[in-house]
Amino acid sequence: MYDFDIVIPRRGTASVKWDARPPFGKEDDEFIPLWVADMDFPAAPFILDAIRRRVEHGVFGYVAVPDSYYEAVIRWFSRRHGWNIEKDWIIYTTGVVPALSAVVKALSKPGEKVILQSPVYNCFFSSVRNNGCNILDVPLLYRDGTYTFDFEALERACADPQVKLMLLCNPHNPAGRVWTRGELARVGDIARRHGVTVVSDEIHCEIVMPGIRFTPFASVSPENQACCVTLCSPSKSFNIAGLKISNIVTDNAERRRLIDRAINDFEICDVNPFGVVALEAAYSEESDAWLEELNAYIWSNYLLLKERIKDFPVCRLEGTYLAWVDVSSLGIPSEEVEKRLYLEQKVWVNAGTMYGTEGFIRINLACPRSMLAEGIERVSCGLSQLTLNK
Ligand SMILES: Cc1ncc(COP(=O)(O)O)c(C=O)c1O
Repeated sequence: MYDFDIVIPRRGTASVKWDARPPFGKEDDEFIPLWVADMDFPAAPFILDAIRRRVEHGVFGYVAVPDSYYEAVIRWFSRRHGWNIEKDWIIYTTGVVPALSAVVKALSKPGEKVILQSPVYNCFFSSVRNNGCNILDVPLLYRDGTYTFDFEALERACADPQVKLMLLCNPHNPAGRVWTRGELARVGDIARRHGVTVVSDEIHCEIVMPGIRFTPFASVSPENQACCVTLCSPSKSFNIAGLKISNIVTDNAERRRLIDRAINDFEICDVNPFGVVALEAAYSEESDAWLEELNAYIWSNYLLLKERIKDFPVCRLEGTYLAWVDVSSLGIPSEEVEKRLYLEQKVWVNAGTMYGTEGFIRINLACPRSMLAEGIERVSCGLSQLTLNK
């Protein structure tokens, strides 16, 4: 029903993915961008219609978020993910990264330690550092082409009296895991026993591969709900990240008061009219079919990558549109791999070190298949060259 093969030129449209350059790049480089988590697909037609209707109105003053916005969020998470939330629990803001930073500021003090589990989305690191806290990394365990939690290490880390907060990525960027109910229950149990609040970043929650089910951390049990703050947004799954809309959800009134204070300190409490209407359109029943086709398309792109990159292990993909490829056998820093692929093959991927782990590259699969096939060809050529030059 929807055309994900269509190639929409984006260069020159003020796109970070297409118009930014790495420090070692040149202004006029014509690379294939398989880096930042931004899809090359147009937003779904019903989202575009909602935005068009808002544009037609012609007046774009400050926004009072309507009840229908909250109702859309509540209905969506109840219907699709079996998680029942209440209007009062929702604090809207201008993006998941601003939300993450505000929550760290609100729920920890400078000098305290915040747990994260590398490899993980780079802004997890910066949100901790920028708020004067220290990172306590409890690396995930890499085994048989996928990742699991290190529960023993997590237990020890949570027992540290300087730890009040843990950042969780569910689904996990870049490891591609969609954590199971059992895993989330165990994390919740550890956190609760040590009085640690879990901040669960669930921005990738609609991008799940065949046979996989996403479980919101807070939906696992009343105990999980009580120790958690959830961050969510339609931005990744519907490719509307530029519209800057997201939600922070927690059932705890005191936590909400502190978070609300931080949101106001950061002055990120005003959202824009297009984000509001786009979210309402995205969180509607019309999205089910669109997401189903999108996820099937991403899965086929992943299979294409696996088929063409034979000499390097590609991690199992359960969720997100980000493939994590083990290039450790090259024995060179992943930043060097990124640079050589860019300069010699004109394809831009992300180095694993950006996510706190050496020996991997991250490849964005969310683009038309023709573009991905060309990108993979370039990655494959580049990796072969690097293997020969070892
Ligand atoms: C786990 C995770 N959280 C947050 C973001 C960005 O959120 P936002 O654009 O809403 O600030 C990303 C983007 O890649 C992400 O992967």
